[in-house]
Amino acid sequence: MRILTQNFDKPNSQSISVYGEYVALRKALMMKPTGIIAEVKASKMLGRGGAAFPTGQKWEFARRSTDFPKYIVANADEGEPGTFKDKAILEKDPHRLLEGIIIAGYAVGASEGFIYTRAEYPKAKKILAWAISEAEAHGYLGDNVIVPGFSFRIHSCTGAGAYVCGDETALLDSMEGFRGCPRLKPPYPTDSGLRGRPTVINNIETLANVPTIIKKGGEWYSKIGSPHSPGTKLMSVSGFVKKPGLYEVDTGTTLGELIRDYCGGVVGKFKAALPGGVSTRFITQLDVPIDVPSLVDVGSLPGTGAVVVLNDTVSMVDAAKNCVRFFADESCGKCTPCREGTHRAYEILDRFSRNEGSLEDLGLLRELHAVMYDTANCGLGQSALNPVISAIDGFEDEFRRCAG
Ligand SMILES: Cc1cc2nc3c(=O)[nH]c(=O)nc-3n(C[C@H](O)[C@H](O)[C@H](O)COP(=O)(O)O)c2cc1C
Repeated sequence: MRILTQNFDKPNSQSISVYGEYVALRKALMMKPTGIIAEVKASKMLGRGGAAFPTGQKWEFARRSTDFPKYIVANADEGEPGTFKDKAILEKDPHRLLEGIIIAGYAVGASEGFIYTRAEYPKAKKILAWAISEAEAHGYLGDNVIVPGFSFRIHSCTGAGAYVCGDETALLDSMEGFRGCPRLKPPYPTDSGLRGRPTVINNIETLANVPTIIKKGGEWYSKIGSPHSPGTKLMSVSGFVKKPGLYEVDTGTTLGELIRDYCGGVVGKFKAALPGGVSTRFITQLDVPIDVPSLVDVGSLPGTGAVVVLNDTVSMVDAAKNCVRFFADESCGKCTPCREGTHRAYEILDRFSRNEGSLEDLGLLRELHAVMYDTANCGLGQSALNPVISAIDGFEDEFRRCAG
């Protein structure tokens, strides 16, 4: 099933002449906002930004608020190493995203949307600006969109070059001109988001699914792939595979099928993979279906769908150290467990990589992970040691060999 990538191979796919009329928006504007939310709920779509929150439920929270104005924010910060799925949508099919944002706006009662794009995506930003002007020229943005009384505008903002600004509340601080640091929750953005107003923040892939859900119906969508987390999923695959790249698969496709049937197999002998970016746990089971409950069952998460495949030439000590170096660099420093914990974990792993680790250090890493998971302010600190602990769980002998 190709929903999100259906136009990717067409020449000039980013233009409205290839995308066509905003048919789903036309249909949505004939429905009641509550009816749109009911369709999105019926689709059972879970957000694609990493936290897997049900999209219909999020929209309903914002819809119920009586505070105005309300906003839609499309999160295109995409800083998770190995993830390049949202970039592809922005560059190859931006109108699918714009249509999804406008429908979200109508459903929750917002008249303004923002797309927060990471600073490292200048090409995507340029294409997006062009697509917004095309949508304006076709009357899909501006005053009285298709029907009298519904106005909607979309603004494009540039990210701050920091991974943490992908966290929805740090993103809001960054948009408001502050240093991007995660806020304490609650309140959640659907109650108090941008400028203190109800705000729906969704991932690009999530929003790009919306036109198809409205066109074909939530029930139709809910029958694709796995029943508990249905739909298709964009997978960015990198590492030791023959054909790294971006693939759209039905949820429920196994990791092994993705690697073998789409990526041409492993280069060398398979050792382990991160199924959803560096915030998830290494897994070694190739028969695990790519969906939320199955990945949770094996102790991991679907994350952003960034699969990093390692073969048997890779040292798990070095892989774990690389992951933690990223988090230590990117920690915003606001909360102590993350600011200190990521650096202490890096120091310990550095000792192992110089064959100077100790068995006590393994215990220390586990303790650090438990404290950071329980007490860090946001997902960055809570999940920073996931790859480390899973590497120790699966390959403790490698760490023991590096203990001096
Ligand atoms: C450190 C950190 C970085 C994140 N980066 C992104 C990102 O780049 N894009 C994204 O959509 N969500 C990211 N998230 C998740 C967002 O906070 C939020 O859950 C998501 O944008 C909601 O969209 P969804 O419901 O459509 O998944 C990040 C979370 C954390 C903690």
